[in-house]
Amino acid sequence: MVMSASSFSERLIRWQKTHGRHHLPWQVRHAYNVWLSEIMLQQTQVTTVLDYYPRFIARFPTVQSLAEAGQDEVLSLWAGLGYYTRARNLHKAAQQVVNDFGGVFPESREGLEKLCGVGRSTAAAIAAFAFLRRETILDGNVKRVLCRVFARDGNPADKKFENELWALAESLLPERREDMPAYTQGLMDLGATVCKRTKPLCGECPMESMCEAKAQNRIAELPRKKTPPQVHTLPLYWLMLRNQNGGVWLEKRPQKGIWGGLYCVPCFETLAELHRRAEHFSVFSDGLEEAAPVTHRLTHRLLLITPFTAVADVKVPSENGSDGLWVAEKDLQSYGLPKPLENYFAGGSRR
Ligand code: ADE
Repeated sequence: MVMSASSFSERLIRWQKTHGRHHLPWQVRHAYNVWLSEIMLQQTQVTTVLDYYPRFIARFPTVQSLAEAGQDEVLSLWAGLGYYTRARNLHKAAQQVVNDFGGVFPESREGLEKLCGVGRSTAAAIAAFAFLRRETILDGNVKRVLCRVFARDGNPADKKFENELWALAESLLPERREDMPAYTQGLMDLGATVCKRTKPLCGECPMESMCEAKAQNRIAELPRKKTPPQVHTLPLYWLMLRNQNGGVWLEKRPQKGIWGGLYCVPCFETLAELHRRAEHFSVFSDGLEEAAPVTHRLTHRLLLITPFTAVADVKVPSENGSDGLWVAEKDLQSYGLPKPLENYFAGGSRR
């Protein structure tokens, strides 16, 4: 145990009870709800999750109902949250709980880590919130808090440094299991609302008097920055086919790769491929109209999408053997569409 462990956890728990967040809809003692919220919150802001989470729970109130659902429906409820691997894993994990764990979530952190899409920190959050286990989370916000309070100066990409932070985080856990929810939520709340990356509110921090980075005037310097990922531009071409009734041609994308399993207009990396596919619909160069490009940022890639619109009426099976279908404009919102395609339709599809 590091010297100030009990002081750290006691201060944090007391602070969380008076200044932390208490009315988030997933602050319940049910593993299903906690798990779902933690997966949604992995790469998404609380305000966005507050919008998606209740709809998801209303449609899938239990892990059984989620396991039994079709992938299309799960993806359509996820549409817009991004990082769709999370939704495919979520669906698989629900099936694991039902098929491998008799319909009940494992209670240990190690057991929870067996579920698709659940890493160590997420497993610890579920174990702490739902089962009062003395397991520590360590997400980006918590790393920032620890690097500052204990002036840990290391390369965030270094595995050894990461392991040191896990060990530090474990040494700080409160003794009493009943304190685990407030403590864990406190770590999240402190990182999100006070010990912010820029302009931290040190005057409001329960750790101010023990914060080593503050004492050393190194708040702006810690934690050390990650080298930003290289962002490559990926040109893409969309074939936006409409039939005489204004229907739009959509195809289910393959499971692997961007937007895996979502419905999308035919999408290509080269113009030649787009032309070849258009010909299957008896659409030739003179029938294709180039529309204004759309950009969309993914973690490591900047998509530069050029849509080509055309009128067509033949129904053709898609090349990859996946399902293709004409969808009326008014029904588009019930399909899981990639965000930039949803934006495109929302902005007026006849541009
Ligand atoms: N981020 C990750 N998990 C969270 C939670 N349970 N509450 C608020 N923000 C979070």
